[in-house]
Amino acid sequence: MLVSQSGKNADYHALQVYLIIYFLFIFFIPNLHNYFPGFNQNIMSQKITAAITAIGGYVPEDRLTNADLMKMVDTNEEWIRTRTGIEERRILKGEGKATSDLCVPAVLELCKKRGISPEEIDCLIVGTVTPDMFFPSTSNLVCDKIGAKNAWGFDLAAACSGFLFSLTTGTSLIESGRCKKVVVVGADKMSAIVDYSDRTTCIIFGDGAGAVLLEPNYEGYGILDSILKTDGSGCHYLHMKAGGSLHPSSFETVAAKQHYIYQEGQAVFKFAVKGMADVSAELLEKNHLTGEDIAWLVPHQANKRIIDATANRMGLSGDKVMININRYGNTTSGTIPLCLWDWEKKLKKGDNLVFAAFGGGFTWGATLVKWAYNG
Ligand code: COA
Repeated sequence: MLVSQSGKNADYHALQVYLIIYFLFIFFIPNLHNYFPGFNQNIMSQKITAAITAIGGYVPEDRLTNADLMKMVDTNEEWIRTRTGIEERRILKGEGKATSDLCVPAVLELCKKRGISPEEIDCLIVGTVTPDMFFPSTSNLVCDKIGAKNAWGFDLAAACSGFLFSLTTGTSLIESGRCKKVVVVGADKMSAIVDYSDRTTCIIFGDGAGAVLLEPNYEGYGILDSILKTDGSGCHYLHMKAGGSLHPSSFETVAAKQHYIYQEGQAVFKFAVKGMADVSAELLEKNHLTGEDIAWLVPHQANKRIIDATANRMGLSGDKVMININRYGNTTSGTIPLCLWDWEKKLKKGDNLVFAAFGGGFTWGATLVKWAYNG
């Protein structure tokens, strides 16, 4: 009788213990971060972020200076410098040279720096509006040229926002766990689609490529947030009319110079100033940051005046803004990674960076990055 009574008590106690453990799991453990903030950090550190772990870049040797342009169109050195900030651009010359030839040295440099073989690349994305040809993609051609035998990839056309859009796409592949090494290239051979008799566009653009390697990070470094936007009604102001399915290339389209960039500079300028400044400010606000928290603004290099307006809106002084437009002009998808390439040595682990771009489409956006290594 005694034995059976104590047996019942033991059962009762066991039930109590089970119930306590059950309620702990249901109510307490999921809310542990409310009681112990450090616990939350541990959980967060398990989240995969996409960190930039290496940078490569390439600009062709040939320079096209403002003085050179004065011999080609009715312009002057001072007008170009004061209205745009550009002093010279690089031009890829030579028979059979195309955008993939800008990408190859940039990607190979990145692989060398990181100590990896191209065969380790899982995916290679090329942001560009000047692909070697419509298909196959420039990504395919680059992978073939560098021996990235295990990679898949594609081109992404978002004009001057091409690198940002590609970066966000590559980030998703890393965050989802699908890929371990994604190379994102921004590259354009703008000289292929510029009319060198049109002084309003030929002064702006240049050729170049920059590339970054994305890898998983478990400590919260890397691409933290992005706001990307498009507005197709902007097509009217900036486009290349011919060569697509709407106006396939013909004698007529070539005679009408529709295989070149068409731009209404002033209208684009107004949209760009507002778009880039607004989205950068929105990104800061969304992440509860101010200009003081930002180590570097890495802006698309279209016009120095657009860059200054964006920096002002973010409350950033000029010494926190990467600018190389004076040396390369607007390389479209290439500008942001080329800035990173030029500034790499100054970057420190933990720096907050904002990348911001505006381009044809219209396309625009901003990305927040916590830098993952000391340059
Ligand atoms: N050299 C000398 N004068 C020029 C010139 C040149 N290369 N290009 C234009 N001009 C003249 C114009 O004919 C005009 O003369 P006018 O007043 O007698 O008519 C005057 O300069 C002002 O032209 P405007 O078009 O208002 O110049 P701007 O200050 O807007 O600068 C751009 C022109 C193209 C540099 C500027 O509009 C711009 O940067 N736009 C955005 C470009 C951009 O971001 N594009 C890519 C998207 S990423």
